[in-house]
Amino acid sequence: MGVWPKPPVMSEQFAAVEIIAAKRDKYELTDPQIDWVIDAYTRGVVADEQMSALLMAILLNGMNMREISRWTDAMINSGKRMDWSMLTRPTVDKHSTGGVGDKITLPLAPLVAACGGAVPQLSGRGLGHTGGTLDKLESIPGWRASLTNEEMLHVIQSCGAVICAAGPGLAPADKKLYALRDVTSTVEAIPLIASSIMSKKIAEGTGALILDVKTGNGAFMSDPAKARELAQVMVQLGTRAGVTTRALVTAMDVPLGLTAGNALEVRESVEVLAGGGPADVVELTITLAREMLDAAGIKPLHDPADALKNGAAMDTWRAMIEAQGGDPDASLPIAKEQHIITASASGEIIEMNALDVGISAWRLGAGRERLGESVQAGAGIEIHAKPGQTITAGKPLFTLHTDEPERFERAIEALANCVRISSTGEKVERLPLILEKITG
Ligand code: URA
Repeated sequence: MGVWPKPPVMSEQFAAVEIIAAKRDKYELTDPQIDWVIDAYTRGVVADEQMSALLMAILLNGMNMREISRWTDAMINSGKRMDWSMLTRPTVDKHSTGGVGDKITLPLAPLVAACGGAVPQLSGRGLGHTGGTLDKLESIPGWRASLTNEEMLHVIQSCGAVICAAGPGLAPADKKLYALRDVTSTVEAIPLIASSIMSKKIAEGTGALILDVKTGNGAFMSDPAKARELAQVMVQLGTRAGVTTRALVTAMDVPLGLTAGNALEVRESVEVLAGGGPADVVELTITLAREMLDAAGIKPLHDPADALKNGAAMDTWRAMIEAQGGDPDASLPIAKEQHIITASASGEIIEMNALDVGISAWRLGAGRERLGESVQAGAGIEIHAKPGQTITAGKPLFTLHTDEPERFERAIEALANCVRISSTGEKVERLPLILEKITG
C-alpha cells in the first residue's frame, strides 16, 4: 500500500529575520507582525536567538504606544484570561514594580478585603535583590502558593482576597520572554517591562488596578522621570483594556520598613496588621488601600486606618492564611546564625542605600540568582535605625541573619558604603515616600 503523502507544511506568515531587521532599522512593527512573532515564539517557531535580537532592537529603538499595546494584547492572547464575574464584590489589585523590604502586599490584600474589595493577587517569586511575595508567604508553616482555579475562587469568596502563584495558562508568552530578557540584558526597556506587567494583570481579570511604581537606587527605574514614563505607559495600557488603572510613583531610595528577608518581612507585616509597625509601611499600605477602594468604586466598610487598628484586617489575614493551609499562629523560621553590624560613628543617619541592603539580604540567602532555586526563609536583615535618626558609635545598625555563616563576608561587603552618618547638621537626603499620582 502506498504511503499517503504528508500534508504540506503550512508556511509561516512572516520571517523572524524580517521583523528583527525592521525594528533594527527603526521601523514600526505592524499589528500582524507583532501578533505573529509573539505567537510563533510561544509555539517555538521563532528561536530564542531570534527573539533575543528582537528584544535588543526594541530596547535600543523603542516602540510607540500602538506597538506596546498590541504587544501586550498578543501576550495576553498567548494564554487564558481569568473571569471573576461570579463575585459579588468589585475586584481590585495592586502591583509593585519591586523594591527592598517591599512587603506591602501582605498587609494590603487582607486590609482591602476587610474594607469591602475582592483582591485576586496573582504574585511572583523574587529574582535578584528584590523579594517575592510568594517567597515571603511560604515562610509561614503549611502555607501553599499553588492553588487550582476552584481553590482560588473558594479562598476569594470566603476571605475576600487570595494571594497565590499565577498558573501556567496566564500569559505564557511572558514567562518565556521574561526568562530570556533576564539572560540577555533586555529587562530594562519600558515597552518590555510595561507589557510584561500589564499582560499578566489584565489577564488576571481585575476590574481596577493600582500600580506602585518604585523609584530610587533600589528600584528598576532609579530615575524618577523614567519611573513616571513607565507609570504613564502602564496606566494607558490598563485604561485601554478597560481596567480602571492608576499609578503612584513611590520612593525606593531607602528600604521600606525595618526588615528585608522572607520571614522577617512576614513578622513586620503582622505587626502592621496588629495596628503597629514602621510608619512608612503603615502610610504606604493605607494610601494604596484608599486608592484601591476608590478606583474600584467601593464604599468602604471601614476606613483602612481603622481596619488596621480594630482587628478587621488581621481577622481577614488569619482566614486567608488558614484557607491556604498555613498556620497564622505558628512560629516563623529564625535563621541559625546572626551577625550584628554597629555604627562606625555617632551622628544623624543621612543616607541608607536600598540597593546595598537588598544585595546584602540576597547574599545572605533571602533571594535567588536563578528562577527555581530555593531561598532561606529566615535569611535577611533587620535595620535598627533609618535616615533621620541619630545613632551612637558602636550601637547596632543592622542584624544579619542566615543559616550559612560563610555567607556573612560577602553580605557585610555589600553594606560597606550603605550608610552615611554625619554630625555636622547636614540635611537628610531622601525622596518623599509618595512622589506623584498618575491617573488615566
Ligand atoms: N516585573 C515583571 O513582571 N516584568 C518585568 O518586566 C519587570 C518586573
